[in-house]
Amino acid sequence: MTIASACGKIILLGEHAVVYGRPALAAPLPDLRATAAASDLAEGEPGSVCIEAPDIELAAWLHELSPDQPLAVIVRLTRQALAIEKHPPLALRVQSSIPVASGLGSGTAVSVAVLRALSAHWGHPLAPERQSALAFEVEKLHHGTPSGIDNTVVAYEQPVYFVRGDATQPFPIGAPFTLVLGDTGLRSNTSMAVGMVLQAWQAEKERFEALFDRVAGTVALGRKAIEQGDWATLGEAMDKNQQLLQEIGVSSDELETLIETAKQAGALGAKLSGAGMGGNMIALVETEAAADIEQALQNAGAAWTMTVEVGA
Ligand code: MEV
Repeated sequence: MTIASACGKIILLGEHAVVYGRPALAAPLPDLRATAAASDLAEGEPGSVCIEAPDIELAAWLHELSPDQPLAVIVRLTRQALAIEKHPPLALRVQSSIPVASGLGSGTAVSVAVLRALSAHWGHPLAPERQSALAFEVEKLHHGTPSGIDNTVVAYEQPVYFVRGDATQPFPIGAPFTLVLGDTGLRSNTSMAVGMVLQAWQAEKERFEALFDRVAGTVALGRKAIEQGDWATLGEAMDKNQQLLQEIGVSSDELETLIETAKQAGALGAKLSGAGMGGNMIALVETEAAADIEQALQNAGAAWTMTVEVGA
């Protein structure tokens, strides 16, 4: 049996504007993972794949799945990339500890875990660049105009400074910092959020371009602050970014409640992370305050919370 996994992710600064060519910062969540296990079956047609994903109550043969089912897509893409067709019949089991549709990259992590397990099982492990490119093909199916930031941070599993179309740039984190994540419990539908921003941009291009430029300003501020270990300024950059995300139209009352709660409980800055409209917020906190801030978020209705060290 060959087992592989891939991490979840957070967007530190710059989501949505990154789709329009502005830079963004993202970091991996190494403790939240999707795992895929590939093993040869004793019986079955050559090239057949039996897929089990208990988290989404899926158990089916590959050929029974709709061609655009994300697991079916990544299995076929991996086979194509490796020019493998008639492999021995295979069982593929996929599981994940990443909350689904919550802005934490669960779908991307599943794609990367599967392509890692399959390519290793067939003796041709793929380099991160190819992993990222294959996962990007699946992202395109989910939402027509992905920037590529999610597949990049998950495939490389390092913090990245990302500009659409540019070579991937890992960025150094001067000193680790602590974030508390809080989930609204509401689905964050990336394709819906990205589509809504697209419509708004089409209706008011000048206003939205200016908003995206201001987001880029917060990314520049935050990047420098991270390099210098200046947490007050990073918090300020996150707060400014959140105000802009509100204006862009991707925040929600539930996100605002958790963000406000984290701030009142002492967070240095807080914002939504990912596509928004639901899903997770992230708060920059003093390490000693993390447990209290998690508790405050839970009291305010968070469905799930977690403390992470970025750059540890
Ligand atoms: C989603 O994690 C980030 C978005 O900017 C979409 C994208 O960049 O493809 C909302």
